[in-house]
Amino acid sequence: MTPQDQINELTDRLNYYNHQYYQNSVSEVDDFTFDRLLQELADLERQYPDYRRPDTPTQRVGGAISKEFPTVYHRFPMLSLGNTYSEAELTEFDNRVRKGLNGQAYEYVCELKFDGVALSMTYENGVLVQGATRGDGVRGDDITNNIRTIRTLPLRIGRGAGGQEHGIDSHNPVPPALFEVRGEGFLPLAEFDRINKEREDIGEPLLANPRNAASGTFKQQDSAIVAKRRLDCYLYSFLSEPEVFQTHEESLIAMKQWGFNVSPTWRKCADIQAIMEYINEWETKRFDLPLGTDGIVIKVNRYDQQRELGYTAKSPRWAIAFKYKAMAASTTLNSVSYQVGRTGAVTPVAHMKPVLLAGTVVKRASLHNANEIQRLGVMINDTVFVEKGGEIIPKITGVDLSKRTEASQPINYPTECPACGTPLIRNEGEAHFYCPNEKGCPPQRQARFEHFIQRRAMNIESLGEGKIQLLIERGLVWDPADLYKLTNEQLLGLEKAYQDRDGGPRDGGAEETGKVRVVKFGQKTVDNILNAIEASKGQPFANVLFALGIRYVGNTTAERLADYFGSMDELLNAPLETLANVPDVGPRIAQSAFEWFRDPDNREYVERLRTAGLQFASERKVVAQESDTLAGKTFLYTGTFTNFTREQLEERIAANGGKLLSGVSKKLNYLIVGENPGPSKVEKAQKLNVPLIGEDEFTAMLGG
Ligand code: IVH
Repeated sequence: MTPQDQINELTDRLNYYNHQYYQNSVSEVDDFTFDRLLQELADLERQYPDYRRPDTPTQRVGGAISKEFPTVYHRFPMLSLGNTYSEAELTEFDNRVRKGLNGQAYEYVCELKFDGVALSMTYENGVLVQGATRGDGVRGDDITNNIRTIRTLPLRIGRGAGGQEHGIDSHNPVPPALFEVRGEGFLPLAEFDRINKEREDIGEPLLANPRNAASGTFKQQDSAIVAKRRLDCYLYSFLSEPEVFQTHEESLIAMKQWGFNVSPTWRKCADIQAIMEYINEWETKRFDLPLGTDGIVIKVNRYDQQRELGYTAKSPRWAIAFKYKAMAASTTLNSVSYQVGRTGAVTPVAHMKPVLLAGTVVKRASLHNANEIQRLGVMINDTVFVEKGGEIIPKITGVDLSKRTEASQPINYPTECPACGTPLIRNEGEAHFYCPNEKGCPPQRQARFEHFIQRRAMNIESLGEGKIQLLIERGLVWDPADLYKLTNEQLLGLEKAYQDRDGGPRDGGAEETGKVRVVKFGQKTVDNILNAIEASKGQPFANVLFALGIRYVGNTTAERLADYFGSMDELLNAPLETLANVPDVGPRIAQSAFEWFRDPDNREYVERLRTAGLQFASERKVVAQESDTLAGKTFLYTGTFTNFTREQLEERIAANGGKLLSGVSKKLNYLIVGENPGPSKVEKAQKLNVPLIGEDEFTAMLGG
């Protein structure tokens, strides 16, 4: 097979596996094989860039960095929808449609109104060539690289991903050479939760809600970051000229067959009565969907009738949105408890008299922070309004003052940590109170262990939550370094029964179930734990760095630090300025890491981890040698680039015999300067007369 054939074969095969996995929930290969094939394809594409296909799955993982997004004009304007809130208003809409169609028969298609970001994708000859935001409706941002990271969106249709050779039937209409599909990009709720857990873990502020998180992610400049947040997209419109379908329904069916992610929740409805049934049915069922929805969209089914009805300046006359009212109930606030989170942040939780809301019994709601309690002016024993909006966590939205009695008592916000008694502090400009007793406060100590054992850190997950708690309680471990001293004798036979812990306010209820869970260390469990602890000594240096639990140092930052410094010793003694020079490490992270490594307790902890035998240095990546064009030359880069990710740039340097330095010094031959370079690096290089070059000059040095 020629390299081109190989590239074609791998591209089709991987796109097909991807389609099977994300659209049909079928795993035809294991993750390992998939990653190996993907790597093989990436290597081939690097060797033979001319054969790289526009629909290559290697783009799914991102990498391209956009300095700014080019503006693109929409072939068809992206309009918005009129809103209705009642059956009466819907009937008025239906009357307008009937009148507009002069007594012709007509039907509707109802869909859910997904709460995300409107996207428009253009396909040419079956290949995704452009993805854009709505913008002002006339023109939007070209965010193609970010959109390509959406795993459920076919990069090519009719081949590989659900194509003819994979069993699509011949009744299916042929997609036109040029068409556009539109839909709602979103961050699945589960993904939103996962990201926020990660952010909470390293002390980053939480993302406010899934919609803003999605919109912010689609506008990220670094598509590798976008790829890490698993965005998704539901398609709801098909546009082409000339039209290939007679009805909206046909377009939904065909899009699904071509491999697009069309939510199966749509329904054809003959009249207002059927529409009302759909509305009532989804009023509560919508909370089981993987994303937020805030209403339904009603569309006239036939395209010729849509054309006949036409448009107002802003929106179509053939479609309308029905918005659900936020679901509210009123109940009594019984008490407020305070949870201490992983980073010491104190969160008040409202405990209420159970009340039925959107099909579930709600007993708890988040009160966010002290400011929120003040803003609401809420007191214990007050009658409060609870709402379930687009998000899952119910919230208290107000107080029914007409029902306030003498029984109402002020909420006394604690001044001391509810877990360890340490006086709470509040940093300027922050909404949360914190317990500063990082090293001694039990929930914070426990959190430190949970962070340490994560798969992305030391991967000792067999030591689940209850087990750590037990080890701490029995005094067998004080901090995670002690794990490496545990013995079979100490663990075997440990046992304790726990009352199930509060599940957090998300479920709005299931706490205080009184379920008893037994944590028990049998021989098999002990073997698993000790084996996992032993195996963790092989976890790469970057994982060890992440496991330390330095505030703001997530796993990507840990990788950058590991790449840059190469060893713990370099890092332990790194001056603040050097830390701030590391790609992607801003002053806030640099300061946090610097302070962490200056703390004598932390240094002692690091030494105990060293004694335990953890990896304290990076294994340098082995790069296949391409040439010695850059032999004897040293490089450093700063900023972002159009044609290279940082990894690619480093690889090019190494593969062609050059050397990457960690800072600007007299030894540096070239500073490669991209967009938004670090000013200190540039200044220092200028002072030392180190030549500054752009990425084009660097490419030229490689021989084009
Ligand atoms: S159709 C001409 N269908 O709602 C209108 N829109 O206010 C074309 N949306 O910007 C839109 N779910 O982002 C349509 N099933 C759905 C939708 C939907 C959510 C959003 C979309 C649009 C906004 C219109």
